[in-house]
Amino acid sequence: MVQLTALFLFASLLVLAMGTPMIKRDMATIQADISNISSLLVTWDNDVNAFAGTADGADAIHADSVALESAFQTAIADTQATSNFTTDMDALLVLGQMENSSTILVGGLTQIAEKGANFTSISNGTAAIVSDLSTLGAAATGFIAAIGNIITDTEVVAQATQFETTWSAAFADAITDVQDPSL
Ligand SMILES: *[C@@H]1O[C@H](CO)[C@@H](O)[C@H](O)[C@H]1NC(C)=O
Ligand SMILES: *[C@@H]1O[C@H](CO)[C@@H](O)[C@H](O)[C@H]1NC(C)=O
Ligand SMILES: *[C@@H]1O[C@H](CO)[C@@H](O)[C@H](O)[C@H]1NC(C)=O
Ligand SMILES: *[C@@H]1O[C@H](CO)[C@@H](O)[C@H](O)[C@H]1NC(C)=O
Ligand SMILES: *[C@@H]1O[C@H](CO)[C@@H](O)[C@H](O)[C@H]1NC(C)=O
Repeated sequence: MVQLTALFLFASLLVLAMGTPMIKRDMATIQADISNISSLLVTWDNDVNAFAGTADGADAIHADSVALESAFQTAIADTQATSNFTTDMDALLVLGQMENSSTILVGGLTQIAEKGANFTSISNGTAAIVSDLSTLGAAATGFIAAIGNIITDTEVVAQATQFETTWSAAFADAITDVQDPSL
């Protein structure tokens, strides 16, 4: 009985510990996350550009999307565990890094939109890419929203909001065009 109680107490403490973010993150962690996102974006973009309407090509894009989504989720968690940026310079540095990713992201989405008809030649191809674009879009905009939340200066927050607006629109356009390639 005593042992059971101890075990129960240990389990409760464990649950408590897991529910509380114990590890504080910092700017360097966020920058490392963005570097990882950038390199995964390059791979994704290359596979999008190489896509020529084959199932293998679609599978590659899907695998890249899953990895990217996971990297964005990690970045969201790390950002939420980070205190507000102490200077606007830090915020601008991070946003500058995002700018590079943004160019690749929007370029890849434009390519996907243009190749909408090529997904229809694959069984369930359109449904699969739309599903990936929805989850990836939510993760990407969720990350930029999380960044906005740790920026204090309202003018700098506006720059983060601008990314969020641009990304949302690019994902929405890609989804619309893939669903109706005649557009
Ligand atoms: C992609 O779709 C376009 C438009 O339907 C078509 O002209 C082109 O041949 C397709 N390419 C491949 C590789 O299926
Ligand atoms: C990059 O993100 C992927 C997906 O979350 C993860 O598996 C990988 O370990 C990360 N790489 C680095 C260097 O952080
Ligand atoms: C953006 O990319 C360019 C070219 O790859 C690089 O020179 C520059 O340092 C990058 N900027 C940031 C903030 O990562
Ligand atoms: C088609 O793709 C969607 C989205 O990925 C998936 O939920 C569904 O199970 C797939 N259907 C089939 C028949 O593979
Ligand atoms: C962090 O910045 C946000 C604005 O993006 C602000 O609402 C919040 O109060 C700030 N938090 C702290 C602890 O200063």
